Amino acid sequence: MMAAGRLSFRNITALAPMVRVGTLPMRLLALDYGADVVYCEELIDIKMAQCHRVVNDVLETVDFVAPDDRVMFRTCEREKDRVIFQMGTADPDRALVVARLVEKDVAAIDVNMGCPKEYSTKGGMGAALLSDPDKIEAILKKLVAGVSIPVTCKIRILPTVEETVSLVRRIEKTGVTAVAVHGRLKEERPRHPVHCDYIQAVAQAVSIPVIANGGSLDLVKTNADIEEFRKATGASSVMLARAAMWNASVFSNQGPLPVERVMEEYLKYAIQYDNNAFNTKYCLCQMLRDKVESPLGKQLQAAQTSAEICKAYGMQELFQQTQERLQARRDTLQSSTEPDRPVVDGDVTTMAVKFERREYPPRVTPKMFLLEWSRKEKLEQPLYETVQRSQDRAFQSIVTVAQKRYRSSLWEKSKKFAEQAAAVVCLRVLGVPEGRIGEEDSGLVCKRKREGKMNGTTEEEGNIKRHIAAIQQETDKSEAAAVVSGDHHRPDTPPEQP
Ligand SMILES: Cc1cc2nc3c(=O)[nH]c(=O)nc-3n(C[C@H](O)[C@H](O)[C@H](O)COP(=O)(O)O)c2cc1C
Repeated sequence: MMAAGRLSFRNITALAPMVRVGTLPMRLLALDYGADVVYCEELIDIKMAQCHRVVNDVLETVDFVAPDDRVMFRTCEREKDRVIFQMGTADPDRALVVARLVEKDVAAIDVNMGCPKEYSTKGGMGAALLSDPDKIEAILKKLVAGVSIPVTCKIRILPTVEETVSLVRRIEKTGVTAVAVHGRLKEERPRHPVHCDYIQAVAQAVSIPVIANGGSLDLVKTNADIEEFRKATGASSVMLARAAMWNASVFSNQGPLPVERVMEEYLKYAIQYDNNAFNTKYCLCQMLRDKVESPLGKQLQAAQTSAEICKAYGMQELFQQTQERLQARRDTLQSSTEPDRPVVDGDVTTMAVKFERREYPPRVTPKMFLLEWSRKEKLEQPLYETVQRSQDRAFQSIVTVAQKRYRSSLWEKSKKFAEQAAAVVCLRVLGVPEGRIGEEDSGLVCKRKREGKMNGTTEEEGNIKRHIAAIQQETDKSEAAAVVSGDHHRPDTPPEQP
């Protein structure tokens, strides 16, 4: 399948590009079951061009992340030689920018020329390109000349066989490696029969591999049908969308497997790669098909988070274990790479600090210490602001004290922990006790003072034990105090147990 490191499209079976379906978990599952290549969902060039490439060491993936922190495309080493990046574009220059952005992480670049949906066609993308062959040529030529990996495109058929053949001949001349032909007109719906004769005429007319597509509904139901479809179209290769979406084990010559098993395997990948919960839900609903109104289907439809989806499948334990494993890896990576000395940038001081609950006595937290200290100093109460990033839903807080802001560079699994970590940074930088067990013995505070990090505070030296006792006493008095929540709020009043 690979010739001199380049992907060949002869005699292969492919997972078709599918919006919402073709994310990493489905692609890996299709590969597991025997697909040779897997297309990602169509990604629009304008959005992709704004993304930056992030190596995600926690998930062991490469992520292309939008300015709003959304992961637009996630891929991993396992699929690197098999994944085709499909883009929606109507602009050769922008197409090249995107292709170059992902070039090192994917096996080929594909341009969608078949999507009949308005959101695609109104921007001149998708099936709109079929009536603008000059634009097709410009985009494909630019890509072929500009990247070192194969370039392909996916089209729908035109009203006549002659027009279709003539378009594909023109496409072939641009230097693309293969062309996928969905055997339907752009006005035809997925339920309409596929025109195998058009695909056959194209396959005979060009020498690049033709990938036949459109056979899922009535022609390809089992693995053996894939070869029948290939023969019926005379194409080199076959691409499956719906048949794979309903049961990805269609790629397996040992299959088909019961869809319950396939859903479970899919969900494992979805957890492992932190797939968007709505995406996961959509895919599982597609797999359930007419069972979507079953008790399981109803529970799935009601689920709003990955945890709830896993619960519907009785897989909450695996979900929990995976979260813990990922958090442990995040902690290890963070603590080995981040400096634990304060770094000042403008009015923000950052330090790599992790909040460890077990390091503090019961009912004692750094936030309480910071609040007490602020009161004593007659300062305004510390103000906490928290953000959550979408790539792993981790939290980071920033605390403002005396017009200065403090945060930990390490992201935490909960908002409460993130606030505690910010409080620890503030206390450490100010050289104020934070209530940690053994702190009084470590000479930490005195050492900080010696290092001149006191920042002009008046916290008295020494007896931290007495300080803790006083705070605990205070805590006991105000046992009923409310715990405030929200993304922008004043600190918890003791007691607090994160
Ligand atoms: C849920 C879904 C999403 C799709 N998204 C895309 C897409 O992103 N890009 C594309 O070229 N075609 C897309 N298609 C079309 C399929 O790739 C394919 O051409 C069509 O479903 C016919 O193949 P089939 O008979 O095997 O389903 C999508 C189809 C489905 C069902």
